[in-house]
Amino acid sequence: MSNLFFIFTLTILYAVYTFPTFQPKQTSLVFYVHDHFTGDHSTAATVAGKTGAASNILQFGTVAIVDDPVTEGSSIDSALIGRAQGIYVNSQLDGKGLYMVFSVIFTNGEFKGSSLEIQGSDIFTMKEREFGIVSGTGYFRFVKGYGVMETEFMDIATLRATLKLNVTLQHY
Ligand SMILES: *[C@@H]1O[C@H](CO)[C@@H](O)[C@H](O)[C@H]1NC(C)=O
Repeated sequence: MSNLFFIFTLTILYAVYTFPTFQPKQTSLVFYVHDHFTGDHSTAATVAGKTGAASNILQFGTVAIVDDPVTEGSSIDSALIGRAQGIYVNSQLDGKGLYMVFSVIFTNGEFKGSSLEIQGSDIFTMKEREFGIVSGTGYFRFVKGYGVMETEFMDIATLRATLKLNVTLQHY
């Protein structure tokens, strides 16, 4: 009986140590999102809020829809690699924080055809804000991760900003 148990244990140990272990791969990725509510090529628009569709995004309760260019470098003239499409809701009573839920849809470069789903808060008065990567498609299927957002440039008067997103992803 104990011999049988010994063989059983050995078999299990053999299986555990010889089968390939599926360690997640980790990928780090930096890209820039250009968020322009006014001016040439504006790609963000408020659609609802306490004072109607034209409510300011810096006011609590305002909802905006974005279709922002995503570039490889901090300049809007650097290589376009995708679009950031989704929703921002000003969800902090003092107006200084957004809730964001959007897709980064890669249209060019290494991850063309894949996407990341981003969700989290953006308390934009902070230098660095951390958000979640909840899923993805294509190359990023089964992805989980986090990202850190920094404001590279922001002009409050014209509501134009460039955001640096540095995401760290685990996938298979
Ligand atoms: C991106 O974030 C990782 C870890 O979160 C860090 O090690 C790396 O230096 C960052 N890269 C850039 C370009 O900020």
